This record gives sequence, C-alpha cells and structure tokens, in this order.
Amino acid sequence: MKVAIIGQGYVGLTISAFAGEFFSVVGFDNNPHIVDQLNNGVSHIEGVESSVLQAWIKAGRFHATAKGEEIADADIVVIAVPTPLSSDRKPDLTFIDAACRTIGENIKKQVLVINESTSFPGTIRNYIKPAIEKYSAGKFENLYAISPERVDPGRGDYNQRNTPRLYAGLTPEASRQTHDFYSKFCDKLVEVSSPEVAEAAKLFENTFRQVNIALVNEFAQIANALGISVYETLDAANTKPYGFMKFTPSAGVGGHCIPVDPTYLAAVAEEHGAPATFIRRANEVNLEMSKYVVDRVAADNGGSLAGKSVLIVGVAYKPNVADVRETAAELVIEHLRQRGAVVSWHDDVVGNWNGEKSAPLSGAEISVVVTKHDDVKAQDILDSAPYVFDTTGKVPGAKRL
Ligand SMILES: NC(=O)c1ccc[n+]([C@@H]2O[C@H](COP(=O)([O-])OP(=O)(O)OC[C@H]3O[C@@H](n4cnc5c(N)ncnc54)[C@H](O)[C@@H]3O)[C@@H](O)[C@H]2O)c1
Repeated sequence: MKVAIIGQGYVGLTISAFAGEFFSVVGFDNNPHIVDQLNNGVSHIEGVESSVLQAWIKAGRFHATAKGEEIADADIVVIAVPTPLSSDRKPDLTFIDAACRTIGENIKKQVLVINESTSFPGTIRNYIKPAIEKYSAGKFENLYAISPERVDPGRGDYNQRNTPRLYAGLTPEASRQTHDFYSKFCDKLVEVSSPEVAEAAKLFENTFRQVNIALVNEFAQIANALGISVYETLDAANTKPYGFMKFTPSAGVGGHCIPVDPTYLAAVAEEHGAPATFIRRANEVNLEMSKYVVDRVAADNGGSLAGKSVLIVGVAYKPNVADVRETAAELVIEHLRQRGAVVSWHDDVVGNWNGEKSAPLSGAEISVVVTKHDDVKAQDILDSAPYVFDTTGKVPGAKRL
C-alpha cells in the first residue's frame, strides 16, 4: 500500500513517521526546502526523530517530494495542510483547495482521501469531495473520510499510538478502509456516525480549551482586583475531586489550534443562524490578556514604560517547542512598543523570529515571562531584571498575574 501525505508539517510529518513502519509513504510538500531536508533524513518537527525518518528512507519506505505526479499511484491520500483564518478572521480553505488540486490533477485510480486538517463540519462532504471531483474531472469514484488530528506537539505521554482517534467515512467502505489504515499505528479507533460529527468534535475539543482558558484569564483579573492569589484559589478549587478541571492563566493563547479552531465553529454556527456569542467573547478575552499584562507591568513601574528596556522571556506559544504561530508574545510586544518600551526577547528554542535574534537573558530593566521552557532556570529569569512579571506561574519570587 502506498500512502501520500499532503503537507509535511507538524501533523503530516508525524503521520509519515508512524505510517512509515507499515506503508510506503510519499510526503508531498510544496516547500522545496522542507522536501530537501526530509530527503536528507532531517526532521524539522519536535517529536519526530530524524533517526526514524532515516530508517524509513533506508528501507525505501519514505521519501518527500514537491512533485504532484509522485502521488499518482497512491492508494490512500491524507490531507494535512494549514487551515488558518483569513485577514478578516474567517475560515481560509485555500490550502485545502490547493491540496485538492494536487490530488485531483495527479491521481490515476480510485483512492481513499482522508482529511486530517481541522475544519468546520461539512468540509469533507461539501468542499473536499466536490473540489477533487472538479480537478480530476470526475474520473474516479474516490472514497472520502475524516479523521481529525489530535497531536499535541512536544508532548511525551500521548502520541499517535495511544491517543484515541475519531473517524468517519462518507460511505461504509470509506470507514472500513480508514479503520484499516489507522489501526496499524493507533491502538484505539472511535467510529462516529458521520464525518460532520468527527469534524465538529475536533472543533469542540479546542473550543472547550479556549473557553476555559478565557474563563481562568478573566478570573485572574478578578482575583487580582480582590487582592487574592489566583493560583492559590485555583489550587483550592482543584481539591474538589469531581466537577472541576484546572486551567491556568496566561498572557493569552497561541498555536495553530486554540486561537483559530473555535472561529471555524463560530463561523459555521452563524452561517446556520446559531449565534456563537460565548465562543466569540472567549476569543476576545484571551486576545485582551496581552493588554492587561502590559497594563499591570506599567502600573507597577510608575505608569509609564517609555524608554524602558523590557525583555520578553519565551516567545514560543508554549513551553519546549519552537512554534511561534499566533503566540501571545506578539501582542504583548506590540502593546509594549506602543507605549514606547524598548523591547527585546529571549528564547533560545526559537532562536530567530520576525527578523530578530534571541537576546541574552540579562541586563533588562523589566522582564516579562510569556513562556517558560523547562531548561530556562527560574533564578536566571529573576536575575535578568530588577522587576520580573511572570504570566506563567512558574517563577517563584516574580510578580504574578
Ligand atoms: N500542529 C498541531 O498541533 C495540530 C494539531 C491538530 C490539528 N492540526 C491541524 O492540522 C493541519 C495542519 O497543521 P500543521 O500544524 O501540520 O501545519 P504546518 O504549518 O506545520 O504544516 C503544513 C505543511 O503543509 C505544507 N503545505 C501548505 N500548502 C500545501 C499544499 N498545497 N500542498 C502541499 N503542502 C502544503 C506547508 O509547507 C507545511 O509544511 C491544520 O488544519 C491544523 O489546524 C494541527
């Protein structure tokens, strides 16, 4: 069996690494730099070991390509391309459309198309299937299924094998083949009654996180106004053995999923006349946290940040990864610069970002911790400036949310 995986980023390369044990995998990516790197056996994704890629390359079971014709004889095609928001914060399916074009124009026989990219309910039925039929001029009766990706990059305890996987085909045969594919490298598969349920479940999982993060971020502001510790209060609430799940406050949410996916759900809800006010407000609360953080820092520093040197500690969107997509650090920096602060940042995991380099962890007047990677020592952060504001709750002795 030959599997073509469209998109070799966090999701697609992770699937390539697991599938390469059992299938002949072609990793298609339209970024030639990534293709060259992968063919040299170098992984660019945390959690995917280069040694695994090298083993599959040596065994003749993996190669990367930017040439569409190399997916021609695939039996299964997995779509794992970005699903961002457009500039007016609406679902942007242009990458999905491009992937459909690659599939439609190159396949030479009936294939099973599985979408792993996160999108709104109805995407596989009403968007991907018609698009592939359009680009292939309806030559093949393909099979279509959805199996949303739940990978959490950088996480050690849950991976493709032990994270239960939802799936549903547009037809029973599509479901059966999807089950056979994933059961090789995933221990628990959960079939749902329609692709729309699987697509909606994925969006709801991330919306659940977004809303709860917004709630705890709002609560952090309430706790501060009341003069109590948000952390102590959360720990106290968390002693209840049922009906409570602890989320922790932060400078906002980042990454490709939590700030984006709920908007896919809100957009499709509103299209169907169901207002998504709660989801929309949660998004706003999380976006507003960056301003709240900067307000607190300014208030502690005589009200003005003009001309002050401020070091942001950690610009990745979460600890121990180099991913800066939608990072809350970006908005924090924007607010600081608007107030005249001279901002630099320290993050050796990220290294280079927005044309700037990671600065030393020292010598600032003010440090603001947005993300704390495990190997950055709390004491070094405390020593980096006379005033340290910590949004992570991981730097004892610093000012906290
Ligand atoms: N990263 C995560 O943690 C995560 C988790 C669950 C779901 N998802 C979802 O999975 C999807 C992919 O996300 P990701 O994090 O892997 O993105 P990514 O940006 O890491 O990778 C996407 C890859 O696709 C390539 N690409 C873009 N357009 C292409 C095209 N037309 N043809 C071939 N390759 C193309 C890019 O070059 C890139 O290498 C998104 O829908 C995302 O929401 C991501």
